[in-house]
Amino acid sequence: MDISSLRKQFDADVASVASEAELRAIRDKYLSRKNGLIQAFLKTVATAPADARPALGQAANDLKKRVESTIDGRLAAVSKKPRADAIDITLPGREPLVGHRHPLTLLREQIELFFQRIGFLIVEGPELEDDYHNFEALNMPAEHPARDMQDTLYLASPLTSATGAPATLLRTHTSGMQVRYMERHQPPVRLIAPGRVYRRDNLDLTHTPMFTQVEGLVVDEGVTLADLKGTLVAFARDMFGPDRKTRFRPSFFPYTEPSAELDISCAACAGAGCSMCKGTGWIEVLGSGMVHPAVFEAVGYDPERYTGFAFGVGIERMALLKWGVEDIRLFYENDLRFLEQFPL
Ligand code: DAH
Repeated sequence: MDISSLRKQFDADVASVASEAELRAIRDKYLSRKNGLIQAFLKTVATAPADARPALGQAANDLKKRVESTIDGRLAAVSKKPRADAIDITLPGREPLVGHRHPLTLLREQIELFFQRIGFLIVEGPELEDDYHNFEALNMPAEHPARDMQDTLYLASPLTSATGAPATLLRTHTSGMQVRYMERHQPPVRLIAPGRVYRRDNLDLTHTPMFTQVEGLVVDEGVTLADLKGTLVAFARDMFGPDRKTRFRPSFFPYTEPSAELDISCAACAGAGCSMCKGTGWIEVLGSGMVHPAVFEAVGYDPERYTGFAFGVGIERMALLKWGVEDIRLFYENDLRFLEQFPL
């Protein structure tokens, strides 16, 4: 057989095969030293006329290289191809697990969205706070009995402030953010400040040593108690729906005067009185009041010119009320069966 027929035959052979074993068999068929077709051809070259031999030998060599490189290339391609049986594409797919946000995050976002819609800024501040911002500038000087309303976690001894060095504490409420913001900005002010707060409380159905609050502050010329009521009643409706009744009850906070707590009618008994609302028909939602002139003085605002209102909401408390959860600890125990139940 002449060399060009041999090459055509090889091309045809190699075109029709796909498996590794077949490719190796074809290589042997052409390149085997004992009985390969190219070896056989070279034997015929020895009997050819002397002047034709170099060209024939060259042609045989070229074909040999062609066989080698073609087979090597095809073998490499075959080994890269995934095996046809590696994936069963007829099997039904596995649904990927989709995560979700924590219910307290969902609630915080709903609160933020409500206040953003009515033009409030969202600001954040440090959880590690000093005595001045957490207490003193809020009209609670050292030894003020109102400090006992909240059991404070100190990082240094509370006595260090008496020696001149400021005491460092975990903020017991977000109200210090009122001071921090007003120190750096002039009125008008319209903000909420969400964040974690800490108290020396033991764990029980309604207490965790760390929880979350949203502080609110509005300051401008001519802000009145009517603005406070209008804003907070609208907020309570957004949170609990339009059917719950609201009322303001006089209260006391050192940094507001007058002070008021907002109650909503009890959902469990529709106001008739039950164990949820301790027989009163009302449930306390948040603390609020008109900013005390002493707070304005601490931040350098003129209390003759400006008035304002402030409020503080506990997010966990809202969650308990909104969803009828009886144990606050559930929100921190990471049991997905519980946490997955709260689409807003
Ligand atoms: N700081 C209060 C607390 O932690 C909540 C509060 C009450 C905030 C009245 C206020 C306010 O801004 O005016 O219980």
